[in-house]
Amino acid sequence: MKQVSIGFLGCGNIGGGVWRLLSEMHDELVLRHGIDVCVRRVLVKDIPEALALNAGKGLDVPREILTEKAGDVTGDPQVDIVCEFMGGEQPAARFMLDALENGKTVITANKVALALNWAQLQAAAERTGAGLWYEASVGGVIPVIRVLNTNLEADRIDRVMGIINGTTNYILTRMSQEGRDYAEVLEEAQKLGLAEPNPEADVEGMDAAYKLSILASLAFHGRVTYQKVYREGISSISAMDIAFGREMGYTLKLLAIAKKDGNVVEVRVHPTFLPHAHPLARVDGSLNAIFIHGAYCRDMMLQGRGAGDMPTASAICGDIVSAASGDRPFYPSFRNTVEDDPSFEFTNDWTTRYYIRLSAVDEAGVLTRLAACFSQENVSIASMMQKTAAKDGLVQLVFITHPASEQAVRRAIGHMDGKICRLERMIRVEE
Ligand code: HSE
Repeated sequence: MKQVSIGFLGCGNIGGGVWRLLSEMHDELVLRHGIDVCVRRVLVKDIPEALALNAGKGLDVPREILTEKAGDVTGDPQVDIVCEFMGGEQPAARFMLDALENGKTVITANKVALALNWAQLQAAAERTGAGLWYEASVGGVIPVIRVLNTNLEADRIDRVMGIINGTTNYILTRMSQEGRDYAEVLEEAQKLGLAEPNPEADVEGMDAAYKLSILASLAFHGRVTYQKVYREGISSISAMDIAFGREMGYTLKLLAIAKKDGNVVEVRVHPTFLPHAHPLARVDGSLNAIFIHGAYCRDMMLQGRGAGDMPTASAICGDIVSAASGDRPFYPSFRNTVEDDPSFEFTNDWTTRYYIRLSAVDEAGVLTRLAACFSQENVSIASMMQKTAAKDGLVQLVFITHPASEQAVRRAIGHMDGKICRLERMIRVEE
C-alpha cells in the first residue's frame, strides 16, 4: 500500500469538503487504488477561529496539524501533495510556487491564481518533476480539463461556449422564471448564501473570464490570457429585456464564448440570448455546462455542478487519486507562456446576431430613419417588435438583426439621432 501525505493551504468551504470526502472515502480508496491518503498539515489564518469553524461543521481536524505558517506545509519534507484552497491570486500563487519548487505536486481549484500564473506554475512543476493538477478550476466537478487535454487532443476545436458561473446562472434563472429585477434577486441569493457578500467577481464576469482564458488556451492549443477576454456582466440586465427576449424566442444566459477561425480568435463573456431550444438555454439554477464544437467530435455538452463544497471536493480528490497513483499530469500540448500565443490574431469584431432595444419617440418616419442607420452599415434586420408608450411617452423598439459585425452594429447605433431615440440595451444573440 502506498502512503500519501497531503498538505492543505486553507481549510474553508472547499478544504472542509475535501477533508470530509477523504475521511468518508478513505477505506474505499485503499481498496480500489491501494493508496492510504492522510492529511498531515493544514494552513489556516487563525488557529482558534479555524477550530471553532471546523467544530461548527463537525470536522474533526486535529489541533496539532493546524499551522499559521505556509512554509510548514510547502516545506514539510513529508508532504507529497499540496492542495490549495485559499482562493484569490496572492498569496496563493506564491505558496503554490514554493511547494512546486520544493518538488511537491500541487492541486488547485483556484482559477484566478492559475489563469494569471499558469506559465510560471507549470514551468516550476516541470523543472522539479512535481505535478500540477487543476481539474476543479473550471466548472467544478465537470471534467472539462481532462476532456480537452486527453479525449479531444486529436480534434480541432473551433468553439467553446459555457455557462461557467453558477451565481449568475442562478440569478438569471430566477429573474427569468419570476419576472423579478436583478437587485432584488441578488439580495435574496446573498441571504441564502448563493451569492458572495461582495458579488463583483461573479456578476461582472471576472470569474467566468478567468475560466474562459484557461478553457480557450486548452481548446485552441495556445495561450489565451485573461486580458484578452472581452467582458460584460449582468448587473445592468433588466426584467424587461429578459421578458422581451423570451417573447422573441430567446433565453438569457451569461455565456463565456471562445471561437477560432484559422488564426483569428475571439474570447468574450457577456449576457447572451440563446434560442429556447439550445441545449445551454435549458441549463438552469446554479448548474454549469460547457458546449464544445470540433471538426470531428461535432457538438458535445458537459454539464454538472460548477461550485459547492462537495462537488468541487470530488474533482479535487479525483486529482489527488490520479497524482497519488503516479499518473502523468495533464500538461497542455502548447508552449505555456506568460504572453498570448503570437500566432493568434485576437479580434473584437465578431459576427453574431444582436438584440437592440431603443426608447423612441412615437412619430411618423422614426422607424424609417432608424432603419436607414442599420442599412448604412449593411446591418440587416431579422425581426422587430414595438411596445406601446410608457409614461414618458416613448415606445420601446426591439430589433433582432441577422448576423452582423459588432463594429458595424456599434456604428449603426452611433448614427442614430439622439433626439428621436436612446439606446437602452444591446445584447448579443448566439445560435
Ligand atoms: N463563484 C463561482 C460560481 C464558483 O458562482 O460559479 C467558483 O468558481
